[in-house]
Amino acid sequence: MTQTALYQPSAEWQANAHVKGMAAYQSLVDEADRDYEGYWARLAREFISWKTPFTQVLDSSEAPFFKWFADGRLNASYNCLDRHIEAGKGDKTALIFEADDGAVARVSYSELLTRVAQLANALKARGVKKGDRVVIYMSMSVEGVAAMQACARIGATHSVVFGGFSAQSLRDRIQDAGAVMVITADEQQRGGKALPLKAIVDEALEGGSCPTLKDVIVYKRTGGKINWVEGRDLWLHDVTQGQASTCEPEWVEAEHPLFLLYTSGSTGKPKGVQHSTGGYLLHAALTTKWTFDLQDSDVFWCTADIGWVTGHSYITYGPLALGGTEIVFEGVPTYPDAGRFWQMIEKHKVTVFYTAPTAIRSLIKAAEGSEAVHPARYDLSSLRLLGSVGEPINPAAWEWYHKHVGGSRCPIVDTFWQTETGGHMITPLPGATPLVPGSCTLPFPGITTAIVDELGNDVPNGQGGILVVKKPWPSMIRTIWNDPERFKSSYYPAELKGYYLAGDGAIRDADTGYFTITGRIDDVLNVSGHRMGTMEIESALVSCTELVAEAAVVGRPDDTTGEAICAFVVLKRARPHGDEAKAIAKQLRDWVAKEIGPIAKPKDIRFGDNLPKTRSGKIMRRLLRNVAKGESVTQDTSTLENPAILEQLGQAY
Ligand code: PRX
Repeated sequence: MTQTALYQPSAEWQANAHVKGMAAYQSLVDEADRDYEGYWARLAREFISWKTPFTQVLDSSEAPFFKWFADGRLNASYNCLDRHIEAGKGDKTALIFEADDGAVARVSYSELLTRVAQLANALKARGVKKGDRVVIYMSMSVEGVAAMQACARIGATHSVVFGGFSAQSLRDRIQDAGAVMVITADEQQRGGKALPLKAIVDEALEGGSCPTLKDVIVYKRTGGKINWVEGRDLWLHDVTQGQASTCEPEWVEAEHPLFLLYTSGSTGKPKGVQHSTGGYLLHAALTTKWTFDLQDSDVFWCTADIGWVTGHSYITYGPLALGGTEIVFEGVPTYPDAGRFWQMIEKHKVTVFYTAPTAIRSLIKAAEGSEAVHPARYDLSSLRLLGSVGEPINPAAWEWYHKHVGGSRCPIVDTFWQTETGGHMITPLPGATPLVPGSCTLPFPGITTAIVDELGNDVPNGQGGILVVKKPWPSMIRTIWNDPERFKSSYYPAELKGYYLAGDGAIRDADTGYFTITGRIDDVLNVSGHRMGTMEIESALVSCTELVAEAAVVGRPDDTTGEAICAFVVLKRARPHGDEAKAIAKQLRDWVAKEIGPIAKPKDIRFGDNLPKTRSGKIMRRLLRNVAKGESVTQDTSTLENPAILEQLGQAY
């Protein structure tokens, strides 16, 4: 495999970027190689304001439970707000909020701090203390960002749950985290529609299912009609009313858990990824500066939702830690039409734009179908840098994004990372790295990614293998909440020589050494950049005990969403056909939406009398993946108990 189409950074980029040219990149890599701890300590001092400076850097005594900067104390909210105001930037715009209907609100650093402090005081008044967990179930809003910052300010650990998750998923997360409070909104406004939030919280809390929970704080977004539980529910505007506009930050240890974020793994139950305060904030800030080359005058726009890690690192923490100006967008890319992103870039003179390949692919389709929503119709000349995240970007989409959105002048940073890594791991730096469409290029300086075989031995370039990180890094996952054993077995399996197992396959180019991610090597799917476990969807399906006897879920490639969910189902009754099969498939899709959330609905549902199994009863997922793709199975099926089943599962109804 040889990658040729290299896009070199322009002379202007090489001269003006924070990291100027490949020699500068290489010297950072060398610095980290020579003195790993010294390198991270230097950056931690440069990027973070410490209340108590650290004297320890990396503590590996309880590996793989690594600690960074452990005797240092800091506050994340102080680093994101107060210190910029103290430096005279209080009037600078922190957030430009654009609502679903296009209304715009600008919030300065001083105003944001006042809101955060008042909310922090309100949380304290309700008894929330350092170390308590607070679940945030809100849509994209200034209040959502402020709620996260307010938790950080008082040392409470937030756990944001994406507004698209169901009551059942929300309940599981509240219970697992042992949350004392939920902060939500009456409704969310997306794509011209008001959708419930508070009603879902009510359902999640039904029957006293979450005994640790005391209060539900409700932000009035739409004023829609909601149910009210006296003694439990409180309006955000009431609890913040009259609260002091200053709030002394809680100075926490660097290892204090800033947040939990639930994500899918190989088993049925989502895991609560625990992040630290110091190491996490360092990498969020550092990557925002080097990867996005954030400058004081930039208008930065990350289109992710605060419910995902991208929204944590590149909305709530990274850009604010640097005193940047950023967009917070409530709506969707296709409302009122598929020109919305381009129109907003024009209107707000966005300079750095970071989005997901799925969004790009669906906007390509829309632009090809209608001139009116083509980026050519908009003035995108403010843009200087583009980014991509969440899934592999196919070279064709990359080229289109480069040409039609970036006017062939903006570098694209294809950033590979994960909920667990806290920030970018493999990514170009725009003033340094020559770009190859479809490759996330080279490790971020100080990050020791490598490709190994099953025993942890390095594989030569040009040969694919398992992606690992050889050394611990500051923003790495600290543990899985309530399940340290699962943390060890998922990320530090014994046979991998103490390397962090990312769960992705990758290959390095024979000539350039550039990385290309080849996809997950476990039972995790990536649908529209959203991560989902096949087991999670399977357990949702089989929990429909009235109908479903057995289910197996696999992914198949999809032109727009990257991967699509394909479910093979054996019913407790005869295999249905025609309209009846369609009706049952719809019923099962709705069931999954109720159990997990609409994002987990299978695109295809196939019914069979049975599933392909080995004689010992193991489901042959490999074969199901072929069937899902519509491929004929050419592999050896002699170990199958029931080979005829493959043909049946391949039939449409
Ligand atoms: O498979 C990789 C894919 O997304 C997974 C991580 O998903 P999540 O924890 O939800 O975080 C998404 C946002 C960081 C990875 O294991 N992935 C993420 N970025 C890329 C990617 N695959 C290819 N290229 C990327 N740039």
